[in-house]
Amino acid sequence: MEERLLKIQKEAEEALKKAKTLEELEALRVKYLGRKGPLTLFIQKIGDLPREERPSLGRLANEIKKDLSREIEEKRGRLKERQALPSLDLTLPGKKPPLGGLHPITQVLNEVTGIFSRLGFRIVQGPEIETDYYNFEALNMPPGHPARGMLDTFYLTKNTLLRSHTSPVQIHVMEKEKPPIRVISLGKVYRYEAVDASHLPMFHQVEGFMVDEGVNFSHLKGVLEVFLNELFGPKTPIRFRPSFFPYTEPSAEVDIGCLICKGKGCSVCKRTGWLEILGSGMIDPSVFKAVGYDSEKYTGFAFGVGIERIAMLKYNISDMRLFFENDLRFLRQF
Ligand code: DAH
Repeated sequence: MEERLLKIQKEAEEALKKAKTLEELEALRVKYLGRKGPLTLFIQKIGDLPREERPSLGRLANEIKKDLSREIEEKRGRLKERQALPSLDLTLPGKKPPLGGLHPITQVLNEVTGIFSRLGFRIVQGPEIETDYYNFEALNMPPGHPARGMLDTFYLTKNTLLRSHTSPVQIHVMEKEKPPIRVISLGKVYRYEAVDASHLPMFHQVEGFMVDEGVNFSHLKGVLEVFLNELFGPKTPIRFRPSFFPYTEPSAEVDIGCLICKGKGCSVCKRTGWLEILGSGMIDPSVFKAVGYDSEKYTGFAFGVGIERIAMLKYNISDMRLFFENDLRFLRQF
């Protein structure tokens, strides 16, 4: 008898699990708990059972009835809740997850890397913390040299500093390797500057250099012409202007025709029609001496470019600070 009761309970609970609508649920309630349901009938006929079994079986039948009606009510609550939810339309288009993008400085770094890779230059990383020797001395700027003043340097200790340009990478590479060498190095540099629209205490540079027998100024010109024409578009006017850097002799600064006014003269190019873009020259024999190269045998050229400056000219941005404020309204434009 007891088994029969438990079987009814099990069957009812299985059916309950499968019920998906309020109507199905109500049908189950009538089937199992209604006036003609098996439990009701069982309780009605309890008098036919042997006297000693009546109390325990009666109790069991009532408990099962109570349990089932509680379970039905719970399920009714859940089904009602579900009905209240808006129905799901699987044909609606999905929501696009917001996609990030590459920072404009990263884009320019990638572009520069691509151009020089195609010219056969290798990419080398250098440390951002340097010693006085690499940042200055080996680059022909001994202590007290006036050119040190051009690079307002953050010192960490008397002898260590945050590199103020990427030129020390030249020394690291040449100390380790013998010519022929064709290398570029890209990274952060630091300067003790008051922040304004064109000065930041941290910015990015690309350093490039090539050393071999017979490298001359026309190689420098050729490489920079390819570089600048790829970067700013074919036929960008380029001019070399005599200049001075302690680590190159002769030295040249390179200008491109103003991208804004096309050379006519505007406020961006200060009415000159030209924009200064990079520093370069033939590597000074004293630099070769510092790394143990024979300057009678080898010659080389070097150049250094500011990445933020390139990005500002390329995208016509007038304030360098915009690159580091991370305002999405600015960044989304790239
Ligand atoms: N180091 C220079 C600067 O930070 C840029 C530079 C000029 C790099 C001439 C060179 C070079 O390699 O030959 O302003």
